[in-house]
Amino acid sequence: MNLYPGCSLVAKALALGARDRRFKSAHPEMKKIVLTGIKPTGTLHIGNYFGAITQAISLAQDYDARYFIADYHALNIMKDPKVLSAAIRGVAAGWLAAGLDPEKIIFYRQSSIPETFELTTMLMAFTAKGLMNRAHAYKASVQENIEKNVDPDAGVNMGLFTYPVLMAADILLFDSDLVPVGKDQAQHIEMAQDIAQAVNFCYQQEVLHIPQPFFRDDAAVVPGLDGRKMSKSYNNTIPIFAPEQDLRKLIMRMPTNSQTVDEPKDPDSSSIYQLYRLCATAGEQQTLATRYRAGGMGWGAAKEELFMALNRTLSPLRNTFNDLIKDPEYLDRILSDGAERARPIAAATVARFRKAAGID
Ligand code: TRP
Repeated sequence: MNLYPGCSLVAKALALGARDRRFKSAHPEMKKIVLTGIKPTGTLHIGNYFGAITQAISLAQDYDARYFIADYHALNIMKDPKVLSAAIRGVAAGWLAAGLDPEKIIFYRQSSIPETFELTTMLMAFTAKGLMNRAHAYKASVQENIEKNVDPDAGVNMGLFTYPVLMAADILLFDSDLVPVGKDQAQHIEMAQDIAQAVNFCYQQEVLHIPQPFFRDDAAVVPGLDGRKMSKSYNNTIPIFAPEQDLRKLIMRMPTNSQTVDEPKDPDSSSIYQLYRLCATAGEQQTLATRYRAGGMGWGAAKEELFMALNRTLSPLRNTFNDLIKDPEYLDRILSDGAERARPIAAATVARFRKAAGID
């Protein structure tokens, strides 16, 4: 539905009060903008939940938040249409179930914002090929090929090679101030800064706003079932929306040391206790730590406590997720409403760039 018949997207942007950085000094009350992209791959696990998701949702209390599903980034590696479309809806339902309020946070699919791809093309003209040659993900693929003694570019598509340019467009399109990401994304953010600076330097004006990374607290790293960092690649995850019985089984199968029931135990080196801390109240944490240190509690009992606390946290999310995933039309509507709100902002940035470049 077009809420502004007869208006161009840029006029819509002005009608919606889309911020223009050049006027920021006149509007110190404007909230800063936080933006992040979510890759629709795999099943969300509690490492994602207690790390990225809760942090991103709480940042939205103080900032204007724009969170999107990076589906064109996923296309580089996901070629099965059924798998990709299920992953997109799965991640949308997952973030909504985890508490993302789509009224408050502009939540959309990257693929619904054509301005992203226009900006990508424009940024290509300012991106040194050498910069892309140095990108960690591309270099890792090349290195792997060299080790396997095959063509260095085997299996490397242009989507992977230019991944950082598309990501820069995602960020720069929305005048983002802060980009919450894991440390593994540091180089991508630096590249977005470099590319934006090249544009601003060329036109001697702030065409694009320079973003800053907001790294997740390393203390928030969630241990996996085997005690290493929880990660899909280690196959040690606890899915957020696992049915109750599966959650129980996963926890009961966690490996433990051979200490007997009677022996006192150290809560700080126990991944059962580290996981418990994420979902139990301060009082409960205190009580369990005391039981660990006193001796007389076996690993089975500690696991039971963890299961109860984690299940209490996750079961409302699981119920919401199960309802949402049955309603793809609803999910699609939420995401297209988000795109409707995002596009005028995106169009304003592209228009500013085109004008600066003499393509207006
Ligand atoms: N590259 C990010 C990741 O792998 C996903 C992403 C795509 C992103 N575009 C973004 C993150 C823009 C932050 C901002 O997790």
